[in-house]
Amino acid sequence: MGELRSRRSVLAVPGSNPRFVEKARGLDVDAFFLDLEDAVAPLEKEAARENVVRALNDGGWGRKLRSVRVNDVSTAWAYRDVIAVVEGAGAALDCLVLPKVTSARDVHWLDTLLTQIERAVGLEVGRIGIEAQIEDARGLTNVDAIAAASPRLESLVYGPADFMASLNMKSLVVGEQPPGYDTGDAYHHVLMRILTAARAHGLQAVDGPHLQIRDVDAFRRSASRTAALGFDGKWVLHPLQVEAANEVYAPTQEDYDHAELILDAYEHATTVDRRGAVMLGDEMLDEASRKMALVVAGKGRAAGLRRTS
Ligand code: GLV
Ligand code: MG
Repeated sequence: MGELRSRRSVLAVPGSNPRFVEKARGLDVDAFFLDLEDAVAPLEKEAARENVVRALNDGGWGRKLRSVRVNDVSTAWAYRDVIAVVEGAGAALDCLVLPKVTSARDVHWLDTLLTQIERAVGLEVGRIGIEAQIEDARGLTNVDAIAAASPRLESLVYGPADFMASLNMKSLVVGEQPPGYDTGDAYHHVLMRILTAARAHGLQAVDGPHLQIRDVDAFRRSASRTAALGFDGKWVLHPLQVEAANEVYAPTQEDYDHAELILDAYEHATTVDRRGAVMLGDEMLDEASRKMALVVAGKGRAAGLRRTS
């Protein structure tokens, strides 16, 4: 996690629809991306680029992390997406989301193209980050090499819908267990694989969309599972999902207070008392406890929590 900015809620905004773009500005999300990929019809792809450039340059996004999802490297649109968006609005952009990444080569391509454009138009080289979507069997197989492919990488993003299609899963509902699989969580391996690769390379791990947009309870259930594993956040498709994501991916107030207390107690124990292990109530703390507490405290501080005890 480190200095990477908070991504509890990542709003997906179809880049072709100025009405959605307008609404998105007012939502309390940590991050958003303007989509040029699957939410935009082929005949609208070129007009969408112009909308996206305008939406970024018009500003009004507050402290939200600003991304654009370009089309994947196998399409005819990808290179022009990158050129149009970065030449047109590179200074108003934090990251590009690259979908359907299947190997490190895809990331190298984007890194090189970004560097060329940054040099050509006088932008700081390397400032624009990359978020790599892992959404098929090849991407998952190569996920470690993908996570190591560029210093621009900030996150790995799970794409559940494309992933289910890629595996030939016998289900049409994203976020629920495929009917008939009653021996556990069908997605556990995929999620853990992505999370482990992300953490091994200091990246954030972001869960993808939940498509049943009015079923906020189902969204919460699905988000709670990846938040419990350690994911940093999740895509949101509708205002109804925003509050749930911000809440689920932040620690509870009680856990946050407790984490800060552990840090204080352990700091005192190691520096003043010169002890490596200490009791806090009935709980024994050591260096590993400090690391766990740092994670929870870090998530809480990033979410704007304040100590209440
Ligand atoms: C998102 O891109 C998905 O495929 O779920
Ligand atoms: Mg997808």
